[in-house]
Amino acid sequence: MTRDDKPTPGKTGQLKESLADLWPTPRPQASIPLLKALHILTREGALNADSRRKLKQTLHFTQILRPSLEALLAASDEPVIADLGAGKSYLGFILYDLVLNPAGRGRVVGVETREELIEKSRALAAESGFARMEFIASPIDRAALRGGRVDMVTALHACDTATDDAIRFALRHEAKTIALVPCCQAEMAQLLKGRAGPLRELWRHPIQRREFGAHVTNVIRGLFLEAHGYKVRVTELTGLEHSLKNELILAERHQQRDARAKGELERLVDQLGVRPALLDALD
Ligand SMILES: C[S@@+](CC[C@H](N)C(=O)[O-])C[C@H]1O[C@@H](n2cnc3c(N)ncnc32)[C@H](O)[C@@H]1O
Repeated sequence: MTRDDKPTPGKTGQLKESLADLWPTPRPQASIPLLKALHILTREGALNADSRRKLKQTLHFTQILRPSLEALLAASDEPVIADLGAGKSYLGFILYDLVLNPAGRGRVVGVETREELIEKSRALAAESGFARMEFIASPIDRAALRGGRVDMVTALHACDTATDDAIRFALRHEAKTIALVPCCQAEMAQLLKGRAGPLRELWRHPIQRREFGAHVTNVIRGLFLEAHGYKVRVTELTGLEHSLKNELILAERHQQRDARAKGELERLVDQLGVRPALLDALD
């Protein structure tokens, strides 16, 4: 720790101490205006429990993505990262601040249906001098990106089937990396409701139907990506104390279709007796 980084007494001291604990570079000071503008830090510079959780999750996600981002930067002059269901674009801003800004290359495009969030993100990017950040107010399935190329797709807590829209978007753009942390899931529980069959005890009670539905949806998403030629890793994003929506599906394209995964996927949906809409896009 340099002299400048040493915590000072009072609230600001506390902030510097905890921010320095979390921040992956030795000098978080330069990012303090950005973190304040994102309301991760209060105007006084404090980090409350909620924003600490969000920051920790976003930083961890960024660190997990770093090797893939570095590979994309090595392979392309201007890799494009599409952050889908971007919300306030915490992930896009932090990823740009920590990786793309120091690299001096690479573009982040946030896609979000809520116009007011897009306007705020545009203003913050301009204020921060983040010239290679763009924002599109659109549903994921209708978003058209300048140049039409996307190298990485991220979707952090994109609600319900928006994660599936992100998967279809990634396939359409032949994204090399896809990183999904799914959110609530309602489609599968709805499909399973009242459905008979040998496995019916797995979803008889509503709470179990919801949880099993969310679990099996993510299993299907992983197999779907494998079937389309992605190598898939499923892990937890951060400790469960940081978020209940904590499953990370990380997929890297290696181009060979996987007939085994496709067969397993077909078998699984046959056993369940339901077919989520994502499978309409199964090649
Ligand atoms: C739970 S928030 C997560 C936001 C952000 N990724 C984060 O982790 O802070 C989900 C966001 O996705 C947006 N969203 C939901 N469905 C969408 C869709 N089909 N297309 C674009 N955005 C969508 C919502 O408006 C909301 O802002």
